[in-house]
Parts: sequence; structure tokens; C-alpha cells
Amino acid sequence: MRAVDIITSKRDGGVLDRAAIAAFVSGVTSGAWPDYQASALLMAILLRGMTAEETAALTTAIVDSGIRVDLGHIPGIKVDKHSTGGVGDKTSLILAPLVAACGVPVPMMSGRGLGHTGGTLDKLESIPGFRVGLSLDEMQRALARVGCAMIGQTKDIAPADKKLYALRDVTGTVESIPLISASIMSKKIAEGIDALVLDVKTGSGAFMKTDADSRRLAESLVAIGNASGVKTEAIITRMETPLGEAVGNALEVIECIEVLKGRGPADVIDVSLELAARMLVLGGVAADRAAAFAMCRATLASGAALDRFARIIEQQGGDPRIVDDYSRMPSVAQSVSMRAPRAGFLTRVDAELIGRASVALGAGRNRVEDTVDPAVGILVRRKPGDEIRQGETVLELFYRDDTALQAARPLAERAIVIGDAPFASRPMVLGEVH
Ligand code: URA
Repeated sequence: MRAVDIITSKRDGGVLDRAAIAAFVSGVTSGAWPDYQASALLMAILLRGMTAEETAALTTAIVDSGIRVDLGHIPGIKVDKHSTGGVGDKTSLILAPLVAACGVPVPMMSGRGLGHTGGTLDKLESIPGFRVGLSLDEMQRALARVGCAMIGQTKDIAPADKKLYALRDVTGTVESIPLISASIMSKKIAEGIDALVLDVKTGSGAFMKTDADSRRLAESLVAIGNASGVKTEAIITRMETPLGEAVGNALEVIECIEVLKGRGPADVIDVSLELAARMLVLGGVAADRAAAFAMCRATLASGAALDRFARIIEQQGGDPRIVDDYSRMPSVAQSVSMRAPRAGFLTRVDAELIGRASVALGAGRNRVEDTVDPAVGILVRRKPGDEIRQGETVLELFYRDDTALQAARPLAERAIVIGDAPFASRPMVLGEVH
């Protein structure tokens, strides 16, 4: 089958069969398809879309470009969580120890931050010594010992996705629901899990800016997971404001430890418990959501979730003493407060702008090859809906050098909008898809 025929078929609105899609993916992986033809097909897919069957075939072909991990010898229903990404989106670091401490094995494969969104691996690496680059053998040992492994993608998992994503990134073809769905779900299916809970974010700080697009993405992801034998469900959560107070790697780890100690911001607790409860039901240790919520609360209150986090850190080479002594985490001495220019009601603390300000401080990366500074970041002291006085601190910026601060400051200033009228914010969880 010639590449040009596959491209023209999709360009003209045709439906590609399994063989055509498999030829495309294996051609991209082996290099037999040159980048210009692969990019042309990606653009045709972005413009013309894909049916559910085509998207499923694309996902399977990407899974088949690498290995599918077999975790069958590890007892229990293995459950992971995936978020489509946001700002201050740190729930994985709470869920993994909490759910593992409730008896569900959690093999968690995560990514790094890119653009204005953060990544779980960068957060974990702010813990001194923590290794995310475990081999698959080490991952399985960690799962057997502490019920959880938090690692990065290995090169054997969905290698076609790496090539396709790199092409999409530079050809304006990232924002396609079938392409995003196949990319996310191929990696999750290949990691050998039995069940998956997705957190699809919606709002300025998310991939999907509208509720309707987020729902379409959630439906597509859930359909692929269930059709591939991974029991999958999704919630749709708000991301127009950063989640919690902390944005930046070490700051976010500390916030997660606070939640594991029974403290921490209400929005982080809400989203974490919603996801954790669903993981416990899918993992077969709780009969229903009410029982799962009760189990989560008891596991937090007893200190078992915090203790499990310390054990996970130790298992992966990190310093578990950080859970009791935050001074062992990276930090910077310099901070500056951004204050309310006038009195009123805080109507907006824009997630995308805060994310970009945090990248400007050095907490994230604009390009894959950039390094991150684990210590810098932003604390969001007040949230939309709060009544504020003139001069009150809304944001605190933790910075290492003045040039970075100068780049971050105007973005952070623009993120804050103050109005005259009070308003009720929407709940964190906007919907669900089974
Ligand atoms: N995350 C992924 O892994 N792939 C995408 O295409 C988008 C977000």
C-alpha cells in the first residue's frame, strides 16, 4: 500500500482500514515513511478526524510498535491514573501512596512537564536521590515490595508514539482528539494495567479549553481503554485556576505531603479523593464509592498513606526523611509577593499564565531538552471567589535569579483579575464518563 494513497484517502475524507493504519505506524517507526509523508497524514487526520474504529486501530498499532508489559504474576487488580495535564496538578503523588496503602497495586508511568503544564517525574525528581528511571524488573520489584512504582516511560513502551509526538509538536497537529487519544491510551495499555482512571482537565490551563472538547476527549479515551480490555473511567475537572496553592516541583511535593498528613488545600483533597475512590472500586477493594471514600479517609487519618509515601521514596532511592523535614527539599531564599492592586473579589487567577510564569522562573521547560530548577515556583495564596483587600498578597514567587523574575512577573500580574461582584465558583468535578 503506497503512502501517498493512504494520505489522499484521508485527505478526501475516507476511512482508513487497519492495514493502512498499521502500515503508517510501522513505516514511521522504521523510518520507511519519510517525515513529510507522515506529517501530511497527521495533518489530514487533524482536519478530517477519525472514526472510533480508526482511533482504536491507531492505538493498537502504536502499542504493537513496542512491548506490552506482563504484570500477571503480581497479585491484585493493577490500577493507574492519568491526567491530561494542568498547572499545580499534583494528585498522582497523593493517589499512588494512598491507593497502594489501601491494597491496590499501582504501576504508575508518568511524563515530564512541557510548556505551561507540569509533570509528575519532575516533581518526584525534586526529592533528593529519587530515581524515576527504574528498569521494568526494578519496577516489578517495587510493586511487589511497596505496592507501587512511579516511573518514566521506558524506550520499549510505544516507541512509535515518541516519533509521532515529535512530528506533531512541530507540524501543528497536536490538537487532534483521535491523535491525543491514541497517544495517551497506547502508553497506558502497554504498561500492563487492568484498570485506569483518567482526569481530563478543562479550562485555560488544560489541553482542552472547553467543557465540550474535554467531554469528547474523555469519551474517546474511555472507549479505547474499555475496548482494549483495560477497565477505564474518566472524570472531568476544572483547570482554569491552578490546582492547590503550589506550582513548582519541590513546592508541590511539600503540598502533597501536607495532604497525606490530613491538611492541605480543599481543591487538591477533593480531586484526589474522587480519583482515589474510583481507583479503589476498580481495584476491587471497595464495594462502592461511599465505602471507598471512607477507606481513603481512614488511611489518611491513620498515617498509613504518609508512611507508604516514605517507603515508596526509599524504595526508589530517595531520602524518606523529607516527609518530616521539609528543609531537606531544594529551596531558594528569595521570594517576592504579588499584591492585589485594588480591593474587590478575585475573579481570575489564570492557570495558563501562572504556568507560563512558573516556566519563566525555571520550574518547567519550553523544550523537551530544557532542565528544570526543582526549587523555584509560585504559591497561589488566594483563589477566585475570595474577597480581597488592596495590597493583600495574591501570589508569592520563589526565584533564583533576577532575569527569570523579570520574565515571570508580567505574566503573573496578568494572571490576576479583580472584579466588583462576588460569584460562586463551580465544583471541581464537572462530570464523569464510564
Ligand atoms: N499527552 C500525550 O501523551 N499525548 C498527547 O498527544 C497529548 C498529551
